[in-house]
Amino acid sequence: MTLPRTLDWRPEGPSVRLLDQTRLPVAIAFVDCLTVAELIDAIRRLVVRGAPALGAVGALGVALAIAESEREGWSPAHLADTIAALRSARPTAVNLAWGVDEVLPLLPAGLPAVLAGARRLIAADEAANRLLAERGTEWILDRVRGERVNVLTHCNTGSLATTAWGTALGIVRTLSTRGRLGLVYADETRPLLQGSRLTAWELAGEGIDYRIQVDGAAASTIARGLVDVAIIGADRIARNGDTANKIGSLAVALACADAGVPFIVAAPASTLDLTTATGDGITIEQRPEAEVLHWGDAVVAPPGARAFNPAFDVTPARLIDAIVTEVGVVEPRLIADVSAIAAATPARV
Ligand code: MRU
Repeated sequence: MTLPRTLDWRPEGPSVRLLDQTRLPVAIAFVDCLTVAELIDAIRRLVVRGAPALGAVGALGVALAIAESEREGWSPAHLADTIAALRSARPTAVNLAWGVDEVLPLLPAGLPAVLAGARRLIAADEAANRLLAERGTEWILDRVRGERVNVLTHCNTGSLATTAWGTALGIVRTLSTRGRLGLVYADETRPLLQGSRLTAWELAGEGIDYRIQVDGAAASTIARGLVDVAIIGADRIARNGDTANKIGSLAVALACADAGVPFIVAAPASTLDLTTATGDGITIEQRPEAEVLHWGDAVVAPPGARAFNPAFDVTPARLIDAIVTEVGVVEPRLIADVSAIAAATPARV
């Protein structure tokens, strides 16, 4: 199945066109953001989501800011403030700020140069995903016995969360194309059930055999020996390998450590944050309480109930067997610093 593009630049407007992930899998609909304010709103509502996708949107958003600035006659200070607001629209995934920063040096050269830079960044993300998926697949096949590999995955890390192919789901796809994939257990994953609505939709489109399970089932699935490996994505990887990812990832890692099942983080090098020493320095986004207290339009908690709704958790490096990127694989128990692979990061766009 050819998926619609997660994000795109449209000369009409111009606008940043986003596949509306809040409507999937029920409807395939698009949101055209004509202003940076509309783009920030879409980012916060999770119309577009996933760290690499947010990086691409950050880069395209700078182009959109220039177009809006030229149209509205903004001062340089207003343009800078608008780009800063975009850069910090969500706090945990480092890729959003990274995408903005990658194209910012091109700003004096104008819209065509920034847009070209954003397009190079998007193409590089797809190439990175395909390469890291190959590396991750090799790492797994070197270690997992048996003809077919049963995989547990959490959150969504496919084409929707990136620009194409995917990170953890890219490895799943690569295992599948090599005929080595068994069954995929997809955790349903809050917020907004990105596992059951998005990951399952992508797996179904590929004809991959999967089961959606509630997040609370993951530990017993692992303990019962039903999975050979757990693979997750990442929103920010600190210098020591501590990894922020979707809430519930830590529970999967703990269960894997107890059961002796490999736990792998798959992410492009753009998700490495060498300025943050450990996971303690990672800001965890708190989402609206209503996401927990409501189920669609229905209220599912007593009147006056409050909710605690962190969107991410941090898995300590000691629980991670491998961090797989396009520029190398680090086994944090052996190397306590991911700088080594980051040093090989491709140059700026
Ligand atoms: O809140 P989201 O949907 O933006 O968070 C996404 C995730 O947690 C993904 O797993 C992560 O960004 C990796 S995306 C390849």
